[in-house]
Amino acid sequence: MDTDDLLAAARDATAAAHVPYSEYKVGAALDTASGAVYRGCNIENANYSNSLHAEEVAVGKAVSAGDTDFQRLAVTSSQRDAVTPCGMCRQTLAEFAADDLTILCDSGDDTAGVVTYTLGELLPDTITASNLDA
Ligand code: THU
Ligand code: ZN
Repeated sequence: MDTDDLLAAARDATAAAHVPYSEYKVGAALDTASGAVYRGCNIENANYSNSLHAEEVAVGKAVSAGDTDFQRLAVTSSQRDAVTPCGMCRQTLAEFAADDLTILCDSGDDTAGVVTYTLGELLPDTITASNLDA
């Protein structure tokens, strides 16, 4: 999927966000090697702490489909302010993706405004399964 389509998928995903508390819609689109793209939106809860982030919903959909070879992630917010994945979501991504995973942070309707990071830039020196090897 090309960059514009991946960003469009993330923006479309915001439409389903359940955000009665923050009113801050987030959308994510995760491109995998299989060619499938998994979308996610944030899903808030009246107890607040049960809220799901858009990225973890997208990761959960991909992993539960057995599709763990992540290629790129796009993330966007209703405010389109180049929202980046939070620390928890970065760690969730690191469970399956290497440091070179591309993360596109949407800044608006124009692809030129997108800020691109790698997962390693956003989460250096993180714990992974290799740290747990005996
Ligand atoms: N949110 C995400 O969906 N992803 C992030 O990584 C940052 C935060 C959501 C959680 C909550 O529903 C809203 O944005 C405000 O924090
Ligand atoms: Zn998050």
